[in-house]
Amino acid sequence: MPKELAYKVEGVREAVSPFTLGIICGKDRNGQYNAFDLLKQPHILIAGETGSGKSTQLRSILTTLILTKKPSELKLYLGDCKKSEFHIFRKVEHVQCVLSSAKDIGKMLRGIKKELDERSDLTEIFEVGHVDDLPAEHRRPYLVVCIDEFVMLRKNEEIMDILTELVAIGRTLGVFAILSMQRPNAKVLDTTIRANLTVSMGFKLRDVIESRIVNTPGAEAIETSGRFIMNSDKLYELQAPYLTIKKAKELLNPFVIAKGPVKEVTPSTPTSGSLTEKDVFNDVVD
Ligand SMILES: Nc1ncnc2c1ncn2[C@@H]1O[C@H](COP(=O)(O)OP(=O)(O)O)[C@@H](O)[C@H]1O
Ligand SMILES: [Mg+2]
Repeated sequence: MPKELAYKVEGVREAVSPFTLGIICGKDRNGQYNAFDLLKQPHILIAGETGSGKSTQLRSILTTLILTKKPSELKLYLGDCKKSEFHIFRKVEHVQCVLSSAKDIGKMLRGIKKELDERSDLTEIFEVGHVDDLPAEHRRPYLVVCIDEFVMLRKNEEIMDILTELVAIGRTLGVFAILSMQRPNAKVLDTTIRANLTVSMGFKLRDVIESRIVNTPGAEAIETSGRFIMNSDKLYELQAPYLTIKKAKELLNPFVIAKGPVKEVTPSTPTSGSLTEKDVFNDVVD
């Protein structure tokens, strides 16, 4: 397999073209693109050590979604606990917010919870099994909540509760989650969350225990950035397309609009009470 696979728009577009919410994954040993429909396999877990390629994979997944869906069809809610990855999406029309503190992400998720409740009520009132079957005047866009390094939020019970609910009931309501973490840990990924993240991508992991938690056997033996084991309906070994920040910015440029300060990344303040990575990992890994 190639150690590096450049993100090429034409190939990626074609790979996701059969799907409503096409998620680009990577190429297999035979040079075939692997992609799937988030509508059919909702909620993704991306795990891997620092430098293994998680944020890059999120960048190409999100960019692909933006290139292929209209802002009226898809709304993105981005959480970036490291404050370093999602700034390129800030002014993109599909993007509702790019947040970094636990406080702001909590507030955003309370809004998502309300939306889940409304959508549940609508499906009940109109007696349909899926929001896509609602009458035209009640149709809702797809929502994707994507949080990079979500383990940093694990001490916030409310956030974890809403995320658990989202992955449990989001599928038929058109609300999806994509979560990344560097140290998969059974305590953070409790059984409910894990069972509902139907696709997992294991980039280089530290050991067999982590590979088992993520359900991606062999991920502990990976040596290349961007290489991963994917577990969806079955196991795949794939090389992720490499989309650089520069190229992503070029691709996103046509979708950039002016936005007010509310949509900006929240500046960090010492009083915000958000956790540092060190705080969290000291007691997560035991
Ligand atoms: N798909 C890829 N193909 C080739 N190199 C990659 C790929 N993804 C990541 N890399 C390399 O690894 C570095 C770290 O990637 P990043 O996505 O930031 O990792 P993580 O978020 O897991 O810490 C990148 O700067 C790049 O050099
Ligand atoms: Mg990262």
